[in-house]
Amino acid sequence: MGDNNNNSENAVIYYSLEEISKNTGLNGTKCWIIYKNIVYDVSDYITEHPGGSELVTEYGGKESTKAFDDAGHSTDAKNMLKPYKIGELAMEDRNQKGVKKNIKSPDTPYRRGCLNIVSCGLLG
Ligand code: HEM
Repeated sequence: MGDNNNNSENAVIYYSLEEISKNTGLNGTKCWIIYKNIVYDVSDYITEHPGGSELVTEYGGKESTKAFDDAGHSTDAKNMLKPYKIGELAMEDRNQKGVKKNIKSPDTPYRRGCLNIVSCGLLG
């Protein structure tokens, strides 16, 4: 009621690989993919995917980081993932080297950088 954002940094939902693997996009299920330890429900996007929905559904319910990066997606394409985030891969299902590295959620609010601070100073 009071809070209008259930998916803020302190309310991350973790999904196990087992649960994710049920969402293949086939047989009426949702299409979830894992990219860099983040879980995205891309069900509403797949029909718009350039080159066909099969390119995405092939990775439904699966780890897709390498395939997504190997496809040479643009920065725009990477940014398009953001609104589809539903949670993160359970810590126990991550590769050792993946732990911590992606702890910062892509939903983290944009913070003012140096340029903003400098220009504030200049403009008084
Ligand atoms: C998960 C596995 C995925 C694979 C293997 C994959 C693969 C590809 C390939 C091969 C292309 C080039 C198609 C062509 O030019 O005909 C492409 C383009 C594109 N894909 Fe994906 N894709 C995946 C997921 C996604 C997702 C989830 C999104 C967005 C939410 C996305 C957004 C785009 C966009 C915007 C393009 C146009 C080119 C660009 O801006 O990079 N893709 N993808």
